[in-house]
Amino acid sequence: LREDLLAAIDTAAGLEALDAVRVHALGKQGVITAMLKSLGKMTPEERQENGPRIHALREAVTDAIAARKEKLENAQLEAQLAAERMDMTLPVDAVRPGSIHPVSQVMDELAEIFADLGFAVASGPEIEDDWHNFTALNIPETHPARAMHDTFYFPKGEDGKQAHLLRTHTSPVQIRTMMQGKPPVRIIAPGRVYRSDSDATHTPMFHQIEGLVIDKGITLGHLKWTLETFLKAYFERDDIVLRLRPSYFPFTEPSAEVDIGYSYEKGRRVVGGSEGWMEVLGSGMVHPNVIKACGLDPDEWQGFAFGTGVDRLAMLKYGMDDLRPFFDGDLRWLRHYGFSA
Ligand code: PHE
Repeated sequence: LREDLLAAIDTAAGLEALDAVRVHALGKQGVITAMLKSLGKMTPEERQENGPRIHALREAVTDAIAARKEKLENAQLEAQLAAERMDMTLPVDAVRPGSIHPVSQVMDELAEIFADLGFAVASGPEIEDDWHNFTALNIPETHPARAMHDTFYFPKGEDGKQAHLLRTHTSPVQIRTMMQGKPPVRIIAPGRVYRSDSDATHTPMFHQIEGLVIDKGITLGHLKWTLETFLKAYFERDDIVLRLRPSYFPFTEPSAEVDIGYSYEKGRRVVGGSEGWMEVLGSGMVHPNVIKACGLDPDEWQGFAFGTGVDRLAMLKYGMDDLRPFFDGDLRWLRHYGFSA
């Protein structure tokens, strides 16, 4: 029987034939199954003699079936691989690759431009304290400028003190940088800022980029040259014209709001020339009180600072007219402006 079964297994031509042998030997009505059942009716002596033989037979047959099965399956797979070929030239379903967001793109562009001018990138926390966001920037508690900022405050602590707020501008990074090490300082600080404000050109969260230079003998001329140089590089145009308008910020003196000139090309408003003006940034010479608050001597160190809206710069360069879709995460919008495949 053993020889017959093993021969049948070895010559089984396919998986189905092999399974038939298995059923014949080990199935419910199988011959080996019957032998195993018969063990129960034997005397202990008979069982002792026959049991090991029957179990060994079952094991041998089971192993042989498994080995043959593997062989047949491998052969089947080989045959299948040989028979099926894939057409690698067929078009595939398009998967759109991820792409960069305009805000990130502009921040990268600006970091690169300023790196060429010798500026490092600095950062600070978005959850700020009152001192860094206001007080150290020469905005004392009673200052009306605090009301102008539409600040998001965290709830007061148990001691009634105002602990934290969402930074309303990137200017607190000026303070953190000046307090960190000795000048000279040349940094930009891009990042998120928050104000309770919302319409087509304002979102409660938006992005600014701060610039700060602290050194000896820094003048307004350095500020103007830096702004012109970076805006020309950013807009990739040589005909960028700037207008510095006297203004007021508590943390700079003198202060200037900077307008960029625009003109019309084929009826469309473009940056460059000077047919009209629009405001692009705030700037000025760092106020001596701010330098003092950071533990530096304003007679020794002077500098300039500026702050501008990254989202605004992106809109001007890439022609978007509404700020809100920047933060909707709608791929169709990104695609429309060439930011997604
Ligand atoms: N922090 C100012 C704002 O958010 C911009 C600014 C930065 C102005 C630095 C002057 C110097 O409006």
